[in-house]
Amino acid sequence: MPDAPGWLQGRVAIVTGAGRGIGRATAEAMARAGAHVVLAARTPSQLEAVREAISTSGGAATVAATDVGDGREVDRLFAVAERVGAPTALVCAAAVLHKVPIEATTSQTWEETLRINLTGTFLCCRAAFGPMRRAGGGRIVNLASLSGVYGTEKFPGLAAYNVSKYGVVGLTEAIAVEGRAHGITAICISPGAVDTQMLRRANPQLKAGLTPARVADLIVSLLDGPITPASGANIPLFSNA
Ligand SMILES: NC(=O)c1ccc[n+]([C@@H]2O[C@H](COP(=O)([O-])OP(=O)(O)OC[C@H]3O[C@@H](n4cnc5c(N)ncnc54)[C@H](OP(=O)(O)O)[C@@H]3O)[C@@H](O)[C@H]2O)c1
Repeated sequence: MPDAPGWLQGRVAIVTGAGRGIGRATAEAMARAGAHVVLAARTPSQLEAVREAISTSGGAATVAATDVGDGREVDRLFAVAERVGAPTALVCAAAVLHKVPIEATTSQTWEETLRINLTGTFLCCRAAFGPMRRAGGGRIVNLASLSGVYGTEKFPGLAAYNVSKYGVVGLTEAIAVEGRAHGITAICISPGAVDTQMLRRANPQLKAGLTPARVADLIVSLLDGPITPASGANIPLFSNA
């Protein structure tokens, strides 16, 4: 698949976590770049608000309420997208964060965090391979975090979250390797503090250095640009500066 500006124009793109925060801003930016965006998260009312905002601005979007940690729901999400056209762009932004000290972290919290943040990203990337391969290629962006980058400051209470994000970084490298033969690229974005509900709940004292819109603009410029040689990379984002 050739690298060219405007790659998103006319594409069908799936964005998970599209109901709010970084996922919402990314879905809106991708729609502005000309993609038909399929919006996935669990809360239908939030997805409907995003669809309406996109449509009011002249863009195209479809709502597909989905729990990304459930394989059958992910299959349904891709079936909804296929009815619009082959999904050849995927952004995985869905995640949860439960702030709990390690000794108080229940197996349930641990498993839920890994199921949504890591297995959910795996299930979506795996489901994307078929349509992307058949279309001759595709582009994936996964949201990890500085919490999953070695050597950056870590915060207490985030063991499950941090481990899930280390996993997403590794998963993206694996997808880049296996995707190469099929023209499928995968990039990981690892932001620091972004001004969203997740950050405000987890760490209200932490000053956000990034806005969802800035992260969204970067994701769109990566998807629209000559991304192929960077496939497998993890890009840490420290601030708006
Ligand atoms: N904010 C930050 O400072 C920051 C920093 C680094 C990385 N990140 C990463 O950036 C991504 C977006 O985070 P955010 O800050 O925008 O979070 P957010 O505002 O809490 O939004 C998270 C989105 O994910 C969806 N979601 C959660 N569980 C889901 C599930 N099981 N299935 C489908 N959708 C699900 C949520 O909707 P429902 O609850 O309705 O499903 C929501 O739309 C995440 O991967 C996060 O880890 C954020």
